[in-house]
Amino acid sequence: MKPIYIIVACSENRIIGKDGGLPWSIPEDTHYFRNKVKGGIVIEGRRCFEESGEAFPDSDTIVLSRDPLFCPRGVLTAVSLPLALELAQGLEGDGPIWICGGETIYEESLPLADKLYLTVVHANVEGDTSFPKWQDYFSAELECRESSDENYKYTFFVLGPKG
Ligand SMILES: NC(=O)c1ccc[n+]([C@@H]2O[C@H](COP(=O)([O-])OP(=O)(O)OC[C@H]3O[C@@H](n4cnc5c(N)ncnc54)[C@H](OP(=O)(O)O)[C@@H]3O)[C@@H](O)[C@H]2O)c1
Repeated sequence: MKPIYIIVACSENRIIGKDGGLPWSIPEDTHYFRNKVKGGIVIEGRRCFEESGEAFPDSDTIVLSRDPLFCPRGVLTAVSLPLALELAQGLEGDGPIWICGGETIYEESLPLADKLYLTVVHANVEGDTSFPKWQDYFSAELECRESSDENYKYTFFVLGPKG
């Protein structure tokens, strides 16, 4: 079975998105995210997909939409998370499955995932999309690295399930 990992960047007040995009620009986190998912299978919601409108390079991309007629070029689609996971497990290769949001997909995935790759942006920001409370599911700190740029301090955590 391929492992299932959640990857997200959220602020101290658990904001992840604003007006259909990220509330910040943090090049180091973007680079981290792209490197992590490379070679794996990305599962994302229709709105996340529409931010770029294209598949992730070097990853299989499965886009979730409840509309069975939604089938953009270059990606796979599924009408539910269980169906997306089944599709992902059946694909060739042994790279992990990366759950890349948004909000309700994260919520549905928290009880199922093996690890949480969480970048905490140390700021309270305004936005319209949140990451659910993860502490009931993930609390074991496997990795932790602090970093910063001219605008933000942030910490890259890798968390395992609560013991
Ligand atoms: N900071 C981060 O790490 C991060 C990560 C991800 C996203 N974001 C931000 O979050 C925002 C986008 O997230 P979002 O929550 O608004 O939208 P989203 O999850 O990307 O897309 C929502 C859509 O996905 C489909 N969907 C969701 N759950 C489904 C399910 N269980 N089964 C089938 N289809 C399902 C539905 O599409 P249909 O309406 O077509 O049925 C739903 O309207 C953006 O601002 C983005 O930048 C940030």
